[in-house]
Amino acid sequence: MAGPVLNLLFIGDVVGKGGRNAVKALTPVLKQRHNCSFVIVNGENSANGAGFSLSCIRDMEAADVLTGGDHTWDQKPFETEILSVKNLLRPANFSSLQPGKGWGIFRNPAGGDVAVISLLGRIFMKESASCPFETAEKILAQLSPTVKCIVVDIHAEATSEKAALAWFLDGKVTAVIGTHTHVQTADARVLPGGTAFLSDVGMVGGHNSVLGRDVPDVVRKFRTGMPTRLNVTENTIRLDYAVVSYELETGRAVAIRAASEFFTPEPL
Ligand SMILES: [Fe+2]
Ligand SMILES: [Fe+2]
Repeated sequence: MAGPVLNLLFIGDVVGKGGRNAVKALTPVLKQRHNCSFVIVNGENSANGAGFSLSCIRDMEAADVLTGGDHTWDQKPFETEILSVKNLLRPANFSSLQPGKGWGIFRNPAGGDVAVISLLGRIFMKESASCPFETAEKILAQLSPTVKCIVVDIHAEATSEKAALAWFLDGKVTAVIGTHTHVQTADARVLPGGTAFLSDVGMVGGHNSVLGRDVPDVVRKFRTGMPTRLNVTENTIRLDYAVVSYELETGRAVAIRAASEFFTPEPL
């Protein structure tokens, strides 16, 4: 193995206040435990389950980079607020007329730069986005060869689309990490070209919930088909994450591990 190996922490979709509190409390613990110097958090559900607000973003200040997804614009004020958040990415394959940016280069305090690219899938997704494969190719062509570590958040429903993107980018990026389904998958691996891949990292949301939402609410909605308010659960929170280890000098991934940690809020 050539030179130093760095570790980065990737945390799945943060759901509501409970999720934000868990990120606040557990990120320093996980950084220390896994010797991580850089943290990426998908926060698309952080504002009461849907979108972002500036105060929610402050709660997740442990993140070096925040990524979005199909819920990025759920909170209307965020259309302008996003311009003041330098480390937040909305999907790069949204229309270029949308505010914000879809990728960026960030300093890793332990050494080197980290390019983070946010992409949205197109299969079974309501939003219109252009081809994530083509968008990734175009962004990679613009990146300086001095940026070795490149992490892609593919926010998508279909595992096939996420796996295909990971194989397409194998050897070109450090990691392709899936988000959006809120359920962590058991397929973490490093592909032959040196790209770490995980179909879905999971969420930071109620352990006894349906994807972070109140169980009776969701069951009622499925059974009756009636419009139903799906409240966010704030009981015991499960924080799902992955740790990617990569060579500083090459950006090549050497390991990826997915895990979960539980957080029980203090009683009021
Ligand atoms: Fe999503
Ligand atoms: Fe989500």
